Amino acid sequence: MTDPFADPALSPASAAFFTNPGHRAGPYPEAFKATLSQAGHLRAAGVVSAWAGYAPTPLVSLPLLAGRLGIASLHYKDESGRFGLGSFKALGGAYAVFRLLAAELRRRNGTVDEAALAAGRLKEAVSDITVCCATDGNHGRSVAWGAQLFGARAVIFIHATVSEGRAEAIRRYGAEVVRTAGNYDDTVREADRAAAGNGWFVVSDTSYPGYTDIPRDVMQGYAVMVAEALADLDAPPTHVFVQGGVGGLAAAVTAHLWEALGAEVPVITVVEPDKAACLYESAMAGRPVTVTGDLDTVMAGLACGEPSLIAWPILQQGAGAFMAIPDEAALQTMRLLASGVGGATIVGGESGVAGLAGLIVAAGRDDWRAALRLDGGARVLVFGSEGDTDPDLYTRIVGRTGEAVRAGALR
Ligand SMILES: Cc1ncc(COP(=O)(O)O)c(C=O)c1O
Repeated sequence: MTDPFADPALSPASAAFFTNPGHRAGPYPEAFKATLSQAGHLRAAGVVSAWAGYAPTPLVSLPLLAGRLGIASLHYKDESGRFGLGSFKALGGAYAVFRLLAAELRRRNGTVDEAALAAGRLKEAVSDITVCCATDGNHGRSVAWGAQLFGARAVIFIHATVSEGRAEAIRRYGAEVVRTAGNYDDTVREADRAAAGNGWFVVSDTSYPGYTDIPRDVMQGYAVMVAEALADLDAPPTHVFVQGGVGGLAAAVTAHLWEALGAEVPVITVVEPDKAACLYESAMAGRPVTVTGDLDTVMAGLACGEPSLIAWPILQQGAGAFMAIPDEAALQTMRLLASGVGGATIVGGESGVAGLAGLIVAAGRDDWRAALRLDGGARVLVFGSEGDTDPDLYTRIVGRTGEAVRAGALR
């Protein structure tokens, strides 16, 4: 293939970068522990690791790409195989469904056998409970899967531009899928209205005034992935590039690393599509900012215009920098990973590779490197948050099916 670094999409000229003036050094603030904590993580890890099929996902080294970028090491946490759902979201929505069902059974009966619930032995008891959510694909798949695993009913709301492939993947887990007009944020409100009218439970991955407990559980589930990555690394990362939608993933990564590593916390850069950069805009403004419009980016999982209420304060203080990248940068990075030129062959989806795309772009500019202290000693960690969750789209972008890329990787 032609030199991937020669592509204009991966040049800094195509992107925006902002060093966060709100960033604070020092220990993980006590106030954030009500949102995300090591104690919460241990609870989540205990539950998630008991589910059938649990296994840590691979942490893949990309030594050739690290060399090209002038850094010491680069690790890619490959979430494409997580519970067979194709993305890290399997950890969050399903964990929140579990917590909700446990709380509801406790409210009804005064007690609950959590091990029996986790093993799917209380399906009868929860069969009259309906969970619902808005999604751009992956979160809905997780909620539907969790509901099926434990025996509840799920209704999943998707917006106009979510592909039919993604809708079908949700239906496969037994959920009813409702397509609405408007963008993701409109769909969040639609799911809320339907839940209020029908006595359903909203399991959202984003938080807003008056609704924070469930999205907190979702984020706490994500921390399982972060802990796995830390456990597999010889030395903690000095830098993390992580993609942002509503900021739940980035905040879970930030909070976990901050509390676990203290003064050694890596420099965290949040990377968003330039067509849906609500966290970038919020960092610029110093307060949560909503980005409007159709948020039409190929990075469907990141097409969010409103920061999550409880994720934002963690990012405002914990993130070192924010970036906005064009769609083309994600597409080129998908092709680069599929080609194997980085030192390993990886199937990474549109939203999944955004953090890595941000790293490649930032590494190309001296002043951004200097701002991040991204040098020959840097040990960078990125989260490959999805695989080919939309297989047809993946094939159109990369020119080969995800299966063909995976088969090539084995040769
Ligand atoms: C694959 C993938 N990566 C990253 C994200 C971003 O997560 P968050 O919205 O919590 O920022 C999403 C959200 O749906 C996603 O599907």
